[in-house]
Amino acid sequence: MPTFKLDGKPIPFEPGDTIIKAAWRQGIEIPHYCWHPGLSAPANCRMCLVEIAPKPGTRPMLLDVLEWDPKIGDYRPVQKPKLQPSCYMAAAEGMEVLGDTSEHVVRARRDVQEFLLLNHPVDCPICDQSGECKLQDYWLEHGQYQKRMRDEPVHKPKGVVFGPTIVYDAERCVMCTRCVRFMEEVAKDPVLDMRERGNLNEIVVSPGRVLDGHYTFMTEHVCPVGALTTQDFRFKARVWFLRTVPAVCQGCATGCNAHLDYDPRYNKAYRYRPRDNEKVNKFWMCDEGMLTYKEAHEGRVLEAKVRGKATSNARALEEVKKLFEGVPKEGIGVVLSAEHDLEDNWALLELARVLIETPHVFETGKPEGYEDTILIHRDKNPNTKGVSQLAPGAKPLQALVDDVVAGRITHVLALGAAVPVDAEPLGQAKVVTIASHVGVLTELATVLLPSTSWAEHSGTYVNAKGMRQVSEKALEPQGASKPGWRQVSDVASALGYEAQWTKLRQIRAQLIGSAAVEALPAARLDAGAE
Ligand code: SF4
Ligand code: SF4
Ligand code: FES
Repeated sequence: MPTFKLDGKPIPFEPGDTIIKAAWRQGIEIPHYCWHPGLSAPANCRMCLVEIAPKPGTRPMLLDVLEWDPKIGDYRPVQKPKLQPSCYMAAAEGMEVLGDTSEHVVRARRDVQEFLLLNHPVDCPICDQSGECKLQDYWLEHGQYQKRMRDEPVHKPKGVVFGPTIVYDAERCVMCTRCVRFMEEVAKDPVLDMRERGNLNEIVVSPGRVLDGHYTFMTEHVCPVGALTTQDFRFKARVWFLRTVPAVCQGCATGCNAHLDYDPRYNKAYRYRPRDNEKVNKFWMCDEGMLTYKEAHEGRVLEAKVRGKATSNARALEEVKKLFEGVPKEGIGVVLSAEHDLEDNWALLELARVLIETPHVFETGKPEGYEDTILIHRDKNPNTKGVSQLAPGAKPLQALVDDVVAGRITHVLALGAAVPVDAEPLGQAKVVTIASHVGVLTELATVLLPSTSWAEHSGTYVNAKGMRQVSEKALEPQGASKPGWRQVSDVASALGYEAQWTKLRQIRAQLIGSAAVEALPAARLDAGAE
């Protein structure tokens, strides 16, 4: 691989890489505002300037400038190297690039920072970006000058509602145009643009339009400062109180990688942020997916129920025992769920095939919905592929409905709540449901057992491309919920069987040999295991 040097350190690069991108791949950040690895480079902020040492035998590129000389009390002509934007300059073999080690670069960064803050309001105490703002970070790293501007700053519109999800503050905007380019290049809806020039610049929505669609949250995410905020997260939390875990979005079969931010003091999830994964979601998530963090709290099953009446887990399990006493295995149907992770499904399949030995295994999940060619998959379940790999012979839920109507199946053990078909006739059977969220199968349940959601336990999901991904635990279990696989083992005990799994890592050890997870590294599978 060809290499160049950045401050003396060799940096390998792929042909076509810019200097900033090659450094970014090595985990080295050259300060920048307008550059984003997933967008084009307009090179308009000038924060990423670097000095490129001339090759031996070539003439350096120099600029004639005037410099104040306090000794003579006047300006005098001097020359300085012409700095280059590293977000635009292609890396070349043997190139010597100076960043932190160039006094000209250090000075340029400080000057760009001062320029960008000339008219910036002192909003940090009330700004949602505070704590993760590039203006704050770079001022500390590359600024730290005494403010020289004494004039009244230019005032611009604040709190401009761009659409149902996004609010714009023009005074905080550094005009990097990332939001404009995101909407044009990724969302394919060029609804944002810049108007006016110089310090009157501001971002506007096209006349007659609002900023809406399926990817508006991403404009806030790419904004390096607090100019764009989401109606959803605005003024809700200070980011330094939040903790984060690597999660997998549950909104569809794409399985976008996310950071789930939560406040451990209140055991509450606050937002999703996309987690970079070039093979799955690159740097993006859709709006619907970004909002699924709310499902950690909304529509949850938090207590056991028997015939609709709240009770304890122990009492509900006694009812399970009574319901299933003397029922022949041929009369029992077991339903796996594409909403739940591999571990929960493996445990239920183990109970069905190894302990109960019923031949009747079915699968369920949410019905299909909207899709696009950017990220959104029509399959609205996070683990459809995982279930079909785990139980290739599982029958669709309609087959169970038919068996119940025909009286062939009288008792059902189900995971998950959503159904893709009319499942009302299942009410003719005795249904035991283990679920994290309410839905048709929880409404029909004779006995309902609460399962933790994806946010409260570590789980493995297989996305539509067949990639196994682990979503880590953020929150403590809410209400009386337990991980689904643990509820399955309690059900097994209630039915008189001894489940061989008491810990998550035991299930994962079993899963490693199965087709569903054989490609997932063992270390990853063990992450977060209890
Ligand atoms: S709103 Fe944010 S992303 Fe858009 S131009 Fe301004 S600073 Fe950049
Ligand atoms: S595309 Fe699917 S997985 Fe990705 S963020 Fe949207 S809903 Fe979530
Ligand atoms: S990041 Fe290079 S000019 Fe903005």
